[in-house]
Amino acid sequence: MQTITLIYGDGIGKEVIASAKAVVEASGAQVDWEVQEAGAEAAEKYGKPIDDAVLESISRNGVALKGPTATPVGKGFRSVNVEIRKRLDLYVNLRPLRSFEGVKSLYQNIDLTIVRENTEGLYIGIEKQVDEGRAEATKVITKKASDRIVKYAFDYARDMGKKKVTAIHKANIMKLTDGLFLNCAKEIAQGYPDIAFNDKIIDAACMDLALNPYAYDVLVAPNLYGDIISDLGSALVGGLGVAPGANLGDGVAVFEAVHGSAPDIAGKDLANPTSAILSSAMMLKHLGMKEEGQRIEDAIAACFASGQMTGELGGTLGCKAFTEAIIKNMK
Ligand code: NAI
Repeated sequence: MQTITLIYGDGIGKEVIASAKAVVEASGAQVDWEVQEAGAEAAEKYGKPIDDAVLESISRNGVALKGPTATPVGKGFRSVNVEIRKRLDLYVNLRPLRSFEGVKSLYQNIDLTIVRENTEGLYIGIEKQVDEGRAEATKVITKKASDRIVKYAFDYARDMGKKKVTAIHKANIMKLTDGLFLNCAKEIAQGYPDIAFNDKIIDAACMDLALNPYAYDVLVAPNLYGDIISDLGSALVGGLGVAPGANLGDGVAVFEAVHGSAPDIAGKDLANPTSAILSSAMMLKHLGMKEEGQRIEDAIAACFASGQMTGELGGTLGCKAFTEAIIKNMK
C-alpha cells in the first residue's frame, strides 16, 4: 500500500482534489492518504502557509498530490509552491500537453511536453528595493541545475519515444546567464545522438508555438520561460483546466493541477477537476501503477468524446457530476 501526502490547498483545491481522490480510489489503485494543510487558509489558521511537518510528510512518503494554494500578490508570505520546490529540491516541473477529442481547443492532436527548471533563474526570490523608483531582481543560472534539467528532458524523451528536444532561452540578450544554459544544453545534447536537438529564443518560440505547435516535441527551459510557455501550451489544448503537472526531484515528487485556486468560482461546484485528476493519473504511473493511471486517462477521454464536461469547456456538468461520470466510464 502506497501512502500519499494529500494537500487540498485553497479555493477550488478542496473540490478538485476531492474529485481526484475519489477517481484514484475508483481506479483500483492501492493507496492511502496522509492529509496535510498548506496555503492561505493554513496561514490564517497556523500563522504560516506551510509547516515543516508538511515537507517532512512529503519527504517520508516520497509523493504528494497537491491542490492549488493561494499567494498574496506584491506582499505577504512567499508562494507555498516555491517553498516546496526549493526545500525538497524538486528541480523538474513536468507538463505533458495533449489534446482530447471533444474538447474545443485551438489545435487537435497536440502531444508535447514542457520541462521547466524549477529551482533557480529569476524565481530565487532575491529582490531589493534600491530606492523608491527602482527595484532589482537577481537571476541565477548554474551549470549544475542546467545540466540536470536538460539531462532530464533528454532521458524523458528517450523513455517516452519522443523525437526532439528544443531548448528555450534568450541568450542573444542575456549572454552570460542564458548563454550558460544554452551551452549546457548543447553539450548534454551530444550525449543523445538518437534524439534531435535545436534551440529557440523565447519570444520566437511563443509565436511559433501559437502558429505551429506540431514543430515541437519536448521543450526544456529555465524557470521563467518555462512558466510562460507552460501556460501558452495549456491554451493550445483547451486551457489550464485540462493540463496536468508534476514537480520532480530525486526520490520525491509532487503532482498538482496547474491552475490556481480560482477564488471566483470556489465552492460553487463549477471547477473542472480534469487537471487534478490527470495529475493523479501521472502520479499513479510514476508509482508504477500504470494500468490504474491509464484507466483514469481513458475514462476522462471517453467522457470528453461523448460531450460530458464541465461548464467552462462548454459542457453542462458540475465538478461532482463530472467526477461521477468519469467513475462510471472507468473500465
Ligand atoms: P487561477 O488559475 O486560479 O484562475 C484563472 C481563471 O481560470 C479564473 O477565471 C478561474 O475561475 C479559472 N479557472 C482556474 N482553474 C479552473 C478550473 N479547474 N475549472 C474552471 N475554471 C478554472 O489563477 P489566478 O486567478 O491568477 O490565481 C488565483 C490564486 O491561485 C492566486 O492566489 C495564485 O497565487 C494561486 N495560484 C496557485 C497555483 C498553484 O498552487 N499551483 C498556480 C497558479 C495560481
